[in-house]
Amino acid sequence: MAVKISEKFVSGFVPASEIGKITPEIEAAHQKVLDKSGEGADFLGWRDLPVDYDRNEFERIIATAERIKKSCDVFVVIGIGGSYLGARAALEFIKSPSYNSLKKDTPDVYFTGNSISSSALADLLAICEGRDVCVNVVSKSGTTTEPAVAFRIFRDLLVEKYGKEEAAKRIFATTDKARGALKGLSDRMGYETFVIPDDIGGRYSVLTAVGLLPLAVAGIDVRAMMKGAETAREELLFNRDVATNACLRYAAYRNALYRDGKVTEILVSYEPAAQMFCEWWKQLYGESEGKDGRGLLPDSVIFSTDLHSLGQYIQEGLRNIFETVLKINRSSDTVVIPNDPENVDGLNFLAGRELSWVNDNAMTATLFAHNDGGVPNVVLEVEDRSEASFGYLVYFFELACAVSGYTLGVNPFNQPGVEAYKKNMFALLGKPGYEDMREKLEARMK
Ligand code: PA5
Repeated sequence: MAVKISEKFVSGFVPASEIGKITPEIEAAHQKVLDKSGEGADFLGWRDLPVDYDRNEFERIIATAERIKKSCDVFVVIGIGGSYLGARAALEFIKSPSYNSLKKDTPDVYFTGNSISSSALADLLAICEGRDVCVNVVSKSGTTTEPAVAFRIFRDLLVEKYGKEEAAKRIFATTDKARGALKGLSDRMGYETFVIPDDIGGRYSVLTAVGLLPLAVAGIDVRAMMKGAETAREELLFNRDVATNACLRYAAYRNALYRDGKVTEILVSYEPAAQMFCEWWKQLYGESEGKDGRGLLPDSVIFSTDLHSLGQYIQEGLRNIFETVLKINRSSDTVVIPNDPENVDGLNFLAGRELSWVNDNAMTATLFAHNDGGVPNVVLEVEDRSEASFGYLVYFFELACAVSGYTLGVNPFNQPGVEAYKKNMFALLGKPGYEDMREKLEARMK
């Protein structure tokens, strides 16, 4: 298993000499990951996570998931950003975006606390009515407003429904091992807790309890997922050769393209099940690279759906974009186009063909069209949508992100910009300690 990079649709835009020129920088950035000498090196815990994780906690997660499966119909995961995107991406990629609607013997899994929409929350409360509910609140800091507010609401719901004692048995907190409001609350209330390691930031945390618990509840083979990440680590982390390491090569292409004015990278998939994976990827790259006035803008599309919306722009709009196509080589399902003896729609030339064959041809057609329109395309091929492939992809993109970030000259592990809105919001909401800021903002609103 591996992620294969295909360069046919990018090499016409980035000559080999450009990759040659950037190679020493990629090697130096990779070295910073290897010897932990770059900025933010305290947050490299994801690097060895596939082989160096708390095995006891891992087994406890699996055992807890088995209990949860038996005691609830709905498993509500409360978290925002890195505290939910990876889990949701994995659930939809490995199972299906329609997981909750499909027949299964595992609980429905819903994600909340990732917006401040009354309607979204009210919908979920309605979905929970008359059903057995368990809650997993995920927050490293324990103070993020969106999940904290949602958790307060779901805590009330569980206490009302089951009483204080039973409610506590249905709440699972994934947070810092020792610090923070959520850890304190959990200890006081007796919730079972799982740890987000100190050296792993939210957007790199999907292979920790953050992702593992909800995924195990959904019946996903988390051991196979970790194994996939372990294989990626073996194949990618220690191979310093930019010519043969697809991960380093991807980092080289995106940096070379960026320097050539291609400042927007669009992640493309032809599989709707990858939509949330694209959202996870956007957070990973956007939060890691967008700082100090630099960074590629990560965007994403699902084709052929979005060929009928953003397709026009990609074909003929501002030429500052490139695409990275995530090609899934084997479809999980087989759907064959039927024959129609009367051929009323003239589609009999497709009779007997698999839909995935049509999809593959749509991809090839689009690659040529977009290339002709001046859009470079890097193609990354993965075998399938299995747990192992997902784990591999996660590690591939995390490592490429770290190497890319260092090549760009930024710290890929902090997110100072996320604080700006939070402070303003605290001030406007009247949080104690933010009175001066509130006055200033109110003056600016006049
Ligand atoms: O990647 C990150 O660090 C962020 O996206 C966080 O995951 C997000 O802000 C949620 O933070 P927390 O887990 O502290 O509630």
